[in-house]
Amino acid sequence: MLKSVVPEVKHAQALLAWYDRHRRRLPWRALAGQVPDPYRVWLSEIMLQQTTVKTVGPYFEAFLARWPTVEAMARSDEEDILKAWAGLGYYSRARNLHACARLVGGKLGGRFPDTVEGLRQLPGVGAYTAAAVAAIAFNRRAAVVDGNVERVVTRLEALETPLPQAKPAIAAIVDGLTPSDRPGDFAQAMMDLGAMICTPKRPACGVCPYAPFCSARREGTQENFPRKAPKAKRPLRKGAAFWITRPDGWVLVRKRPDKGLLGGMTEIPSSVWTEDFDLSAAVAHAPLKAKWRKLPGEVSHGFTHFELAVSVYAADALVTTKAPADCRWVRLADLDGEALPTVMRKIVALARRH
Ligand code: ADE
Repeated sequence: MLKSVVPEVKHAQALLAWYDRHRRRLPWRALAGQVPDPYRVWLSEIMLQQTTVKTVGPYFEAFLARWPTVEAMARSDEEDILKAWAGLGYYSRARNLHACARLVGGKLGGRFPDTVEGLRQLPGVGAYTAAAVAAIAFNRRAAVVDGNVERVVTRLEALETPLPQAKPAIAAIVDGLTPSDRPGDFAQAMMDLGAMICTPKRPACGVCPYAPFCSARREGTQENFPRKAPKAKRPLRKGAAFWITRPDGWVLVRKRPDKGLLGGMTEIPSSVWTEDFDLSAAVAHAPLKAKWRKLPGEVSHGFTHFELAVSVYAADALVTTKAPADCRWVRLADLDGEALPTVMRKIVALARRH
């Protein structure tokens, strides 16, 4: 008698066959038949949280060239990690990356834990990352759900529950779909399917290995999923930044407090950012007394929970002007190498245009 095959296993086999032919070549991904390196998998997954594959590529290569092993990263200074991370955003990830490398490269003797539960104990490793590393690096059966996978699954099941409420239901469905054989490849195949075929707009259902099983496709409603709860509008915060230069080509910068937004990063000295910021009294927030002139235009930047508009004020200092507390002078030519987050780079760009 023929053994019956449960539908989920059939689905997984169709997807894995597609993956074997069409998988993306990604800098952190082991080639077929190669053993994955947990350090590379972990590093890439931390970088890929809230950041696109395209943006991460060059950062991943640069980190790997500079810190080829977790032991090498464990020996690095946090400041150097922050500098190399500048531009990737969500800087607490970089601080946790360093703390995690220290733990794994030190106390754990260079070996990453190989289970979801063990990985979950590491700094900066949440439920998603623990599942992704366990599956991809150690071929553990774990339900790996990122944004791409959410899209695939809500279409497959024509799931009416909107995101984010649908997350537990999606995790349960992914768990049901994940095979015991090749769970790591399955997780990556779902990501690739979401990135290449099951795209937000105009998905390529004609060549999708899941098309025969896809409820939304059957109804022709694939572009309507995932359903999304209406987003609350982000508030607008305002503030000021102070661009102070010396005639010999140095500029004043400040280290932000370790705790809080952009913690430990370098800034162009800035005011608080608030919804009711009073621009007419902005210079009261300046780090030193000077003849301030407001530069034309402003810098806009989107954070997760608010939009920011920064006005930039410029002033000249003397070669002999002392840097106030927490501040220091940096050569303009050396600014690029500082741990300057993107919003600060935008402020620098505006100031240097004037
Ligand atoms: N997004 C998050 N993790 C990923 C991975 N390992 N490959 C591709 N995209 C990803």
